Amino acid sequence: TRPLSIGVAGLGTVGAGVVTLLRQNAELIAARAGRPIVVTAVAARDRTRDRGVALDGLRWYDDAVALAADPGVDVVVELIGGSDGPAKALVEAALAAGKPVVTANKALLALHGATLAEQAEAAGVALAFEAAVAGGIPAIKGLREGLAANRILRVTGILNGTCNYILTCMRDQGREFADVLAEAQKLGYAEADPSFDIDGVDAAHKLAILAALAFGRPVDFASVHVEGIRHISALDIKLAEELGYRIKLLGIAAQVEGGISTRVHPCMVPVSHPIAVVDGVYNAVVAEGDFVGRVVLEGRGAGAGPTASAVVADLIDIARNRATPVWGAGIAALAHTPSVPMEQN
Ligand code: NDP
Ligand code: HSE
Repeated sequence: TRPLSIGVAGLGTVGAGVVTLLRQNAELIAARAGRPIVVTAVAARDRTRDRGVALDGLRWYDDAVALAADPGVDVVVELIGGSDGPAKALVEAALAAGKPVVTANKALLALHGATLAEQAEAAGVALAFEAAVAGGIPAIKGLREGLAANRILRVTGILNGTCNYILTCMRDQGREFADVLAEAQKLGYAEADPSFDIDGVDAAHKLAILAALAFGRPVDFASVHVEGIRHISALDIKLAEELGYRIKLLGIAAQVEGGISTRVHPCMVPVSHPIAVVDGVYNAVVAEGDFVGRVVLEGRGAGAGPTASAVVADLIDIARNRATPVWGAGIAALAHTPSVPMEQN
């Protein structure tokens, strides 16, 4: 069978991770996908930078959007980042060209997901985004497919690996906030602008995506209550411990009277709760369904390996032709219907 030919835009932490994973596990991926999945084209800014992966023989694009028009590219993988600019232009161009897209870009989806979903569904191609929420945890598949029979009542999660890593290292190693943040950046966990992590915006992007899936309607991102961890001190963490709590940055989306409540803020979590012990770069997603009850998913929420794992899972689905409609709940069709107002709390 003809290999599925991939164009990867963005060769940073995640892009280089995807190229590495596709090569290292090529045989098992080909077996599971029904055909080889091969990177043939890439886009990034700096041709001279060493990315730890061999790029010889690949077509190189300085202009990421041009990747969408490469006739040799079957699927576009967007790993540039940012809610607008080249990432959005590339995804739109790929969908307009009738090419499936895989993206890890939660900022893009939180702000423009419903419109892009409409475009993908109208074009009849996949827009897959498992990597956009909670890194390597199959949170999208878990919620959209695994819990498809349930009315979802509430979704809660530790949705930012950088913040959880900072809070854990402050607690266990007595380290300074700024020092741990610098380490998280070096490890490839943080966003290009780390204020998105520490001010709660990245977790809010992911929560907006989860809430849209859970409740079957687009979320107005501006209505999400967002608070980060900048003001959390070592003393706050110590006092919480003494009282039997852990401080975690949580995202919480719940059905409430009159709408959906979506909020991100630091919380005191009792040490007996399963997510209190989710530490370091690990994330957790807790979903409550009317028939299934509580489901807890846990795993590494950031970094090259876990994120590449989720991106490549989407590529295997596309190779197999089994990618689900974007939101599963037909959210694109709902995008223009008046939605119940989002409550602030
Ligand atoms: P990086 O900053 O490490 O990499 C971004 C890449 O995009 C770089 O290779 C950069 O090129 C390239 N790029 C930037 N602007 C352009 C442009 N105009 N044209 C072409 N290429 C461009 O980001 P990450 O790999 O960490 O993240 C990528 C995406 O994945 C983001 O949406 C992020 O939110 C998301 N994500 C990240 C996770 C993580 O753990 N890091 C986890 C889950 C999702 P150059 O290298 O030449 O500068
Ligand atoms: N900056 C993000 C985090 C990357 O730390 O969780 C994963 O989405």
